[in-house]
Amino acid sequence: MLTIDVDLKRPSHSYSILLESGLCADWRAQVESRLASSSYLALVDANLAEAHDIPSHGCMEEKWRYLWVQPGEENKHLEQYAALCEDALHFGITRDTVLVAVGGGVTGDIAGFVASTLLRGLRLVQIPTTLLAQVDSSVGGKNGVNAEAGKNMVGTIHQPSLVLIDPAVLDSLPRREYLAGVAEIVKTAVLDSAEFFSELQKGSAKLSSGDHEFIADAIARCCRIKSGFVKDDERDTGRRQLLNLGHTFGHVLESLAGYDGSVVHGEAVAVGMVLACRFSVARSTMKQSEADAVETLLATLGLPTCISQLGADRSEPIEWSAALSSDDAVAVIAADKKAESSGVNLVLPHAIGDCRLEKGFPPADILRFMHDHINGGW
Ligand code: GLY
Repeated sequence: MLTIDVDLKRPSHSYSILLESGLCADWRAQVESRLASSSYLALVDANLAEAHDIPSHGCMEEKWRYLWVQPGEENKHLEQYAALCEDALHFGITRDTVLVAVGGGVTGDIAGFVASTLLRGLRLVQIPTTLLAQVDSSVGGKNGVNAEAGKNMVGTIHQPSLVLIDPAVLDSLPRREYLAGVAEIVKTAVLDSAEFFSELQKGSAKLSSGDHEFIADAIARCCRIKSGFVKDDERDTGRRQLLNLGHTFGHVLESLAGYDGSVVHGEAVAVGMVLACRFSVARSTMKQSEADAVETLLATLGLPTCISQLGADRSEPIEWSAALSSDDAVAVIAADKKAESSGVNLVLPHAIGDCRLEKGFPPADILRFMHDHINGGW
C-alpha cells in the first residue's frame, strides 16, 4: 500500500492518503481499524449506495449510521446540506462520531461541509470514487455548496483525518466521468513540470484506456503534487490558487450551460486550460508550440478543446455566441471567487511547468476573448 503524508504546518491538521487497488472493498473495516470511535456516519452517493446495496437513508446498524447524498451539481445546495445536518442530528451523533464521505466530488464537498460544521467539527474520512475526486477534491479540505451567486460560494476548509483511494473502483466509472478526472491530471502536469507532462504524452493511450498501473501512478503523483500546494498554502491565499488553472474560463462555461449535466466540470476545465494557454500566447507570454502541445494532449485523450464542442449532445445546443455576450456571463465572471475590485485573477501558463497567478483582467476582455475563440480558430 502506498502512503502519502500530507504534513501541514499545524501538525493536528496533518493526515495520510492511503492508495491501493482493492483497498475499499471493505471500507468500513478500513475506517474502523484506522480511526477508533463509538459511532460512524457514512454519507454515501445515492447512486453508488443503490448499486452496492448500502443500507438505506436513515438506517442504523451497530456502530454505523447511513445517509444518502443526491449527487450532481444541481443537488449541491444549502437545502441538501441542511437536510443532511438535521438527519445526522436525529441519529444522536456525538463529537466523537467519524463522518465518512463515499462518492465523487459533490458528495465529498457536501459531506466535508457537514463534517466541518456539525457539532462545530467532526473527524472526516474521504473515500473518493471518481477519478476527479481521487486526484483533486478529496485532498486539501475544501468543501461547500453552490449558492445563487455562484459555485462553491458557501463552505469551509476542514482537512480530512484520512483519505482512502482505491483505483479499482474506477473500472465501473462512466467514460465521460473518467475523462473529467483525466482533465485534472493534465492540469496538474501543466502546473507541475514538463517531465510529468511528457510522461502523460508518452502514456496517453494507457491514460485514456485506464491502464491500472499507469493510472495508479498518475493518481499518486497528483496527490503528492496537490499535497505540496496545500502544505504551502492551506488557507488558499496564495500558491494554492494556481490549482485553479483553467477554472475561471471553465466556471463561466459550466455556469452558462446551467449545471444540467450537459457540460461536466472536467470538460469545462479542459477547454478552460486551452483558453488560458491561448490567452497567454495572445499576450506573448507563452510559446505557441507549448499551447499546441497542451491542446493536442487533451484532444488525444478524447477531451473537448474548444467551446463549441461543449454541450454538443443537448437536444438544443447552447448558443455560445449569445450566452457569452449576455449579462449572465458578466455576472458569473464578476462573482468568481478570484475576482477583486481591480478585476479578475487568472492562472496563466508561461510554459508547461510554469504557471502564474496574474491579476486585474477586466471581465469584458475575458468574455470578448472567449467569444472570439468559440470555434477554436487559433
Ligand atoms: N481544487 C482546488 C483546491 O483544492 O485548491
